[in-house]
Amino acid sequence: MALPQHFMDELRRRSSLSGVIGRHVKLTKRGNRFIGLCPFHNEKTPSFHVSEDDGYYHCFGCGVSGDAISFLREKEGLGFMDAVRNLADLAGMDVPQSTPQDPEVTEKRKKSLDILDQSARQFQSALMAGDNPAAAYLKKRGIDQSAVETFRLGFAPRSGLAEALGRFGHKPDEIIESGMMRISDRDQSRYEMFRHRLMFPITDNRGQVIAFGARALSDDQQPKYLNSAESPIFQKKQVLYGMALARVAVRQGLPLVVCEGYMDVIAVHQSGLAAAVAPLGTALTEEQIKLLWRMDDQPILCFDGDAAGKAAALKALIRSIPLLEPGKTLRLAMLPPGVDPDDLIKAQGNDAFSALLNSTVSWMDGLWDGLAAGYQLDDVSQRAAFWQDIRGHLKQITNGQMRASIGDEVERRISAMRQAVREERYGGRYTSLRYNSTERPNVQQDARSRVIMALLIDHPSLVHDFYEQISLLRFHDEKMEKLRQTVINIVSIRSDLDDDGFRHHLNEYGYKNIKGVALLKGMEARIRFDPVSLGVEQARLRLSEVIKLETRQKAVKPRLKRPNSDMMG
Ligand code: UTP
Ligand code: MN
Repeated sequence: MALPQHFMDELRRRSSLSGVIGRHVKLTKRGNRFIGLCPFHNEKTPSFHVSEDDGYYHCFGCGVSGDAISFLREKEGLGFMDAVRNLADLAGMDVPQSTPQDPEVTEKRKKSLDILDQSARQFQSALMAGDNPAAAYLKKRGIDQSAVETFRLGFAPRSGLAEALGRFGHKPDEIIESGMMRISDRDQSRYEMFRHRLMFPITDNRGQVIAFGARALSDDQQPKYLNSAESPIFQKKQVLYGMALARVAVRQGLPLVVCEGYMDVIAVHQSGLAAAVAPLGTALTEEQIKLLWRMDDQPILCFDGDAAGKAAALKALIRSIPLLEPGKTLRLAMLPPGVDPDDLIKAQGNDAFSALLNSTVSWMDGLWDGLAAGYQLDDVSQRAAFWQDIRGHLKQITNGQMRASIGDEVERRISAMRQAVREERYGGRYTSLRYNSTERPNVQQDARSRVIMALLIDHPSLVHDFYEQISLLRFHDEKMEKLRQTVINIVSIRSDLDDDGFRHHLNEYGYKNIKGVALLKGMEARIRFDPVSLGVEQARLRLSEVIKLETRQKAVKPRLKRPNSDMMG
């Protein structure tokens, strides 16, 4: 049941968050906030903050955050409506009754839902009935029987649905109302909406069929994908394909991935590596971003690595700006150009997709780099235009805490850029990777990153021995950072690789015959050496020293509980 916004606003205003939380946690007043021991994780020193003014709590230890309603849901296990009633009682407010629906409208809606579900069944049995082009097509695309059943895939023959629905007592007008049959503008004749297509039922978040997506089965059929028309039941801006299944998978601990198409959702689901959803042929809407955040705190958006994909990624990040809330973020996974997740999994397997999910870009880096790409940052005026652009976007953040926190981060990056300009240290493009550490990038650090990677490339067995330390490093030098992530990905997926196996995988990632000595080219003579000439034990000593130097500089960085969970990359 939808509650009016003004009621929810009033309820939030009148509720005492510290009162609600105080039932579970001993809170101490500290300035204009309360602090206490976090009830969501075990701790000895308080890092759980409650801000009465903003109506939000946040734990700096484990990262949970939310408002009074989410607290009651998570801590007392209440459903949304029960949490609302509980708060309304305390605040002395009445929960508005649901607006009584016109019984005729309700009846029509129920009828349409019946017809949609019956149609899905009809398409499913048509698919099962042996020889048909949809079954052949699914086989060709490598979709297994279990995915066919889970997604209730089906086949719409050239005709026959209306007749079958008629046999179940559905009248032509009702079938038209449901969208499964249409009336021709030309001669008022009736025709079935989906003919000779592979059918993808689209459901609401409880799994009830509310529409269909339908793929052409022959090349001359247009369009390639046809969707049900919008109706009171189906508003495509508010639906994500695969939502109901993804919700379950996320609860079981899988990351949530957003892809572009139906086939991608199914391929990702089939991989077992992630929960997956897709918008229905349009850019991600605000409603869809909110839906994502109800399922997961940090959904991963997958985009094609081509220019259009990069533009779409930036657009999605910008769209999320006004919606940002503490604890919620988006991450980006950029695929190779012209490749969708389905292609990647089919061509390169689960390992490649898993590597992709392990090398996502944070919201902040994505926005910074995405906007920066539109400017010539070695030009004084363009640089100022970039700052104005990004600062302008941040004004759209409605949540005060998010505005402050992201604002600080952007100011820090801008300062770092200015510092680099003053010291004539800049090297062409300014990307976040050069600026996202708490201390300034410098020559020594870049040299260290290259030495570390050179040693690892030539002595792969050391990657296993230093795995922990290496995975905690972050390099300024973009190329070295990318190489570091690749090396970590390879070893995290295959811990049993010998040197040759490791090199083989590096080749597959595009590092053809890479040699350590090549990474050290152009460096000061003092540093240049050929790691191969060191024995593995000498290499180990050297690596251990350089890693120590590198980590000492970063030792003050706070450790986060979940990897990749930081808003700021
Ligand atoms: P793509 O054309 O990229 O196709 O459309 P795809 O998902 O890779 O499909 P396959 O692998 O060729 O089967 C991406 C998404 O855009 C929407 C659909 O939601 C599709 O999944 N789309 C595409 C349409 O709505 N209509 C179209 O004609 C084409
Ligand atoms: Mn595809």
